[in-house]
Formats: sequence, structure tokens, C-alpha cells
Amino acid sequence: KEKLKGKRIGRAVYLYPEIDSTNSAAFHLGHSGAGEGTIVIADTQLKGRGRLHRPWQSPPGRNLYTSILLKPPIEPSVAPQLTLLAGVAVADLLSFYCPGSVRLKWPNDVQINGKKVCGILAEMKTSAHGIDYIAIGIGINVNIRNEEFDETFRNLATSLREETGQVLPRMDIAVSLYDHFEKCYTLYLAEGFQSLKERWLIYARILGEQLQVIFREEVQSGEVAGLDDSGALLLCDREGKITRVIAGDATIKKG
Ligand code: BTN
Repeated sequence: KEKLKGKRIGRAVYLYPEIDSTNSAAFHLGHSGAGEGTIVIADTQLKGRGRLHRPWQSPPGRNLYTSILLKPPIEPSVAPQLTLLAGVAVADLLSFYCPGSVRLKWPNDVQINGKKVCGILAEMKTSAHGIDYIAIGIGINVNIRNEEFDETFRNLATSLREETGQVLPRMDIAVSLYDHFEKCYTLYLAEGFQSLKERWLIYARILGEQLQVIFREEVQSGEVAGLDDSGALLLCDREGKITRVIAGDATIKKG
């Protein structure tokens, strides 16, 4: 905690040797009134969660599992912006170790040299007043070796150690993550989403790419035209018609 420079992120820090999921812990803390910027970090998770109800492999002594509690003054409909913001913060962090080879993959994976190094899972609690709190969960593969990954995604995943050839101190990475997150979030609160969206698109390098998307059981092909303010991907078909693709509903293929 002493190493954290920011004013917002890390006002309270909960460090656990073992926990079910840092996102669940952040949610409970949010429910009991914990303030914005509360951080949960764990050495291992027994029930680490990924998107679409997938498990997130969380062995001890290896990686970073953390959640940041936020209470942003925004409408629930634009909350996906925060997932994209987290992606930019992680990409800034990882670019220090692997300059030029970090890429964001919509909606929220971070890749190095085409393999997944980080996953982001934002979960939100709303009420009649709007957003009560959001837990932004971030899992970064730091020192895990390729052979330790589950066989199903061994070829799709990587870690900072695999990419840099170095074992890196997880706490340094965590501190740097919170620092980058604080910078992005402060900018977001002051100026809105626009410049973060531009930075996200630069890291994603997808403008103009042809994608095939399975969206509400319909297959659509189109060129990526950008992102809208709710974080949806905009696809333009041959006739120039724009379709919004919402994360979670869509499966994406190149082509
Ligand atoms: C994904 O790519 O499917 C998202 C993975 C998110 C994993 C992180 S690890 C810290 C936080 N706690 C969880 O249970 N999940 C997120």
C-alpha cells in the first residue's frame, strides 16, 4: 500500500492468501459500504471466474488476481466503457515489458504476440438509483509456465515470463497496474470516454478489419467501423449499414 501513489485506487487494500474469487470479495465489500478504489488481491483463487461462466485458472505463487471496486457517476448502459478502460490500463502496463507486441481484443482480452495474457471481468450491482458499484476483475498471467496451462488453451495463452524470459515480481506489477488504472480513471472522470476509446482502438488495431460475427443467431459480415459509447463494436456491411455488436452476445471470426 505504501508504494501506491494515486489518490483514488488503493485507498483500502485487502490481501488474501486464498479466496474464492477477488470479484466476489469486492462485491461483498461493496455491499457492506466499502469505498471507491478499494482493492482486493489474492495469491490464489479457488473459484476464479472468467467470462461466459468459464473458470479462470488461478494457481498460487504465479499470477496476479485482483479486483478494483468503483462507484462511477455514470449510467449503467455505458458501464462497458470501464472494461475497455481497464484494457487500456493493462495494455499500458504490459507495453513496458513487451513494447509493441501488446494488443487488445474486443471485448476485453489482452494479448501478447497473439496469445492471451490477461482477462478482464467487470461485474456491476445496480438499483433504482443506477450503479451502486462495479467490481473490475483483472487476471494477468505473470510467471506461469506454458506447460502449467490447462491443455485446452495451452496454445492460446501466454505469460509475461514466457514472453520476456524473466521471472517478474508480482507486487511490482500490481502496483504499476493500479498506477496506470488510476491515470486512466482520472482522465475518464475528468474528460469522458473519448480519448480512452481512441487509445483502445490503437491497441486493438481492428479498424477496417473484416469480421464475421454471430449475433442473435444471425451471421453478419462487415468491416469494423469503430466502437460506440456503450462499448459496442460497430460493423459496416457492403451496403453501408451499421450493426452494433454487444459483448457477450457475439462470437467473432476473421474473414
Ligand atoms: C476472461 O477473460 O474470461 C475474464 C477473466 C477474469 C479473471 C479475473 S482474476 C481476478 C478476478 N476474479 C475473478 O474471479 N475473475 C477475475
